[in-house]
Amino acid sequence: MIELSGISKSYNKGAVKAVNNLSLTVRPGEIFGFLGPNGAGKTTTIKMMVGLLTSDSGTIKINGYDIEKEPLQVKRSLSYVPDNPAIYEKLSGLEYLNFLADVYGVPAKVRRERMERFLSLFEMTQAVGDLIQSYSHGMRQKIVLIGALLHQPQVFILDEPMVGLDPKSAHNLKEYMREHCAQGKTVFFSTHVLEVAEKLCDRIGIISHGELIACGTMEELKAQAQNTGSLENIFLELTEA
Ligand SMILES: Nc1ncnc2c1ncn2[C@@H]1O[C@H](COP(=O)(O)OP(=O)(O)OP(=O)(O)O)[C@@H](O)[C@H]1O
Ligand SMILES: [Mg+2]
Repeated sequence: MIELSGISKSYNKGAVKAVNNLSLTVRPGEIFGFLGPNGAGKTTTIKMMVGLLTSDSGTIKINGYDIEKEPLQVKRSLSYVPDNPAIYEKLSGLEYLNFLADVYGVPAKVRRERMERFLSLFEMTQAVGDLIQSYSHGMRQKIVLIGALLHQPQVFILDEPMVGLDPKSAHNLKEYMREHCAQGKTVFFSTHVLEVAEKLCDRIGIISHGELIACGTMEELKAQAQNTGSLENIFLELTEA
């Protein structure tokens, strides 16, 4: 469960208003897609949700925990895949995964099972012993994803997770997101790939100039726009201006 209530964030002492009075709720069992033009405020919102930035105003609750009052509980109950992960070049993939599993306190047996499963799902079993500095862009993205999946949190937050993934890996990630939600968990992700959002998401939010300009199921978005066609048409119409 994700509850954002009236959150705002400015940069440069108020000169750039990145997020303006944004409220939304994502319930257990839902996949929520967060769309918006470049610079609309998606990454800023996500960074506030995971505790990397503090909001100027408003409240954020993840699984009922307040990000300001109970930051550790929030971080324990979510997993986050950043858009531009800082990754430890001098570690092997395996060392990196073990490091993350240690941070999140994943017990040895469960850790082994999950690593095996996710390494195989993303075809990283062969490469896991190599140094991360030797990985391609997509391989880095996949090792970060696997690391985020190891502790199986209630809430999974991803910032443009499909970028750089090959079609099979992207497909497997989408399948995994569905499985995650079928267990009553929550997925929140930003994307520019409207076809993915349209097919995968239970609900979609569109942010423009820091404001949530539309939010709902595909049917609800269609009702809100004049244009009843594809999500692409709706997106273009609503984000004009
Ligand atoms: N560290 C920063 N300092 C100053 N301004 C920033 C900073 N980070 C973001 N901004 C500004 O805040 C606004 C929102 O940026 P944000 O990164 O949240 O957008 P986004 O929706 O994630 O865009 P994209 O689709 O390109 O990833 C933009 O105007 C951006 O220039
Ligand atoms: Mg971004």
